Amino acid sequence: MKGLILAGGKGSRLRPITFSMAKQLVPVANKPVIEYGLEAMVAAGIREIGVITGDTGEEVKSGLGDGSRWDARLTFIPQEAPLGLAHAVKTARGFLGESDFLMYLGDNLIKSSLTDLVQEFEEHQPAATILLTPVPNPSDFGVAEMRGDQVVGLEEKPQSPRSNLALVGVYLFTKQIHDTIEQLRPSRRGEFEITDAIQLLINGGHTVRSHIVQGWWKDTGTVEAMLEANRLILEDLDPQQHGALEDSRIEGRVAIGEGSSIKSSTIRGPVVIGQGCLIENAYIGPFTSIDSQTQVVNSEIEYSIVMRECVLSDLTNRIEGSLIGRGVTIKGSVSIPGTLNLVMGDNSSAVIP
Ligand code: DAU
Repeated sequence: MKGLILAGGKGSRLRPITFSMAKQLVPVANKPVIEYGLEAMVAAGIREIGVITGDTGEEVKSGLGDGSRWDARLTFIPQEAPLGLAHAVKTARGFLGESDFLMYLGDNLIKSSLTDLVQEFEEHQPAATILLTPVPNPSDFGVAEMRGDQVVGLEEKPQSPRSNLALVGVYLFTKQIHDTIEQLRPSRRGEFEITDAIQLLINGGHTVRSHIVQGWWKDTGTVEAMLEANRLILEDLDPQQHGALEDSRIEGRVAIGEGSSIKSSTIRGPVVIGQGCLIENAYIGPFTSIDSQTQVVNSEIEYSIVMRECVLSDLTNRIEGSLIGRGVTIKGSVSIPGTLNLVMGDNSSAVIP
C-alpha cells in the first residue's frame, strides 16, 4: 500500500501565520503537524509516500527532506492549484499507479493508530474505507448518512446535515476511486470533492466501509483547533530534562531541550520547551509549547504555541490562548508612560487591555 499526504491548499483560516508558512508545518508540541501523519503511516508499514504540494511546496520539501528520517521514500507532487481533494488524487495518479493507498490530509491529527485499519482494509478489500467521528458542527465537514453500519450517503459541508458524523481526513482506497474521480464535476464551492467520488462508489454498488474513530481527532485549520491539538498532544508528553535549571520550579510533565536555560522561573506542565531557549523570571503554564531559540523573560504565558526564535519580555499581562509565529518580538514597556510600539503583519490581531 502507498501513502498520499496532502500539503497543498490555502490555509486562509490560519492567517497571518500562513502568509509566511505552510499550515501543515505549523508546530504542535514543537513538531510540524504533517509529521504526525507521516509517522502514523510509517508505523502502519507504509513507506512509499507521495506528498501533494501547492504554493508552499519548496518549504514543505525542505522541511520534510527525502523521508529518510522516517525510513520512508517521499515523492513530492506539485498540484497546479488547490482544486479539491479528488483533484489532488488525480494529480498523483502517476505516482499511485494501480496501488491501494491511504490518503491523509496534512492538517489533520488523529490519536488512534492506522495499523489495524490498514490490515483490515487489506483483508476485506472494500473499494474505500472512511473514518467518521461525531462532531457538534457537522456543517463544517463532509457528513455521512448511515443505515445501520452501512454508509448510504455522503455530503460535503451540507447546510442541513443528515447526521452528526463527520468525515475524518484519513481515507483508504483501491484503484477504483480513480474511475469515479474521472466522472466528477466541481461542487458548489468549486472543488472536485473526494466526498462526491466516494458517493459515486456507493452509487455504483461498491463496498465502502466506515469506522468510528476511537480517541480524538482534530482538523487544525483554525487557531482554536491548533491550540486544542497542542493541548491533546501535550496530554501525552514524555517528561525530559536536557536543560540547565537555576532557582526554578518544574511541576508536572515538562520536556526541556538541550542548551535551554531556566532561571528563577516556574514551569507548570504539560509544557514543552525546545533547544537553546532562555526562560528567566517567567511563568510558563499548562499546555504551552515553546520552540527552539526562544526567550521568555519577565513574562507569563500559558495555553499557547510560540514558534522558534521569538522574544517575549517584560510583559505585564499573562499571554494565553495565543499562536505566535517565528521570530516574533513582543516587549513590554519598562518606562513610564507605557507605550505600545508595534510592527504587525497583515491580518495580525492583538488584544491589549
Ligand atoms: O478535515 C476533515 C475534512 O477535510 C473533511 O470532513 C471534508 O470532507 C474534506 O473535504 C476536508 O475538508 P476541508 O475543507 O477541511 O479541507 P481543506 O481544504 O482544509 O484541505 C485539507 C488538506 O488537504 C489540507 O492539508 C490542504 C490539502 N489540500 C486541499 C485542497 C482543497 C490539497 O493538498 N489540495 C487541495 O486541492
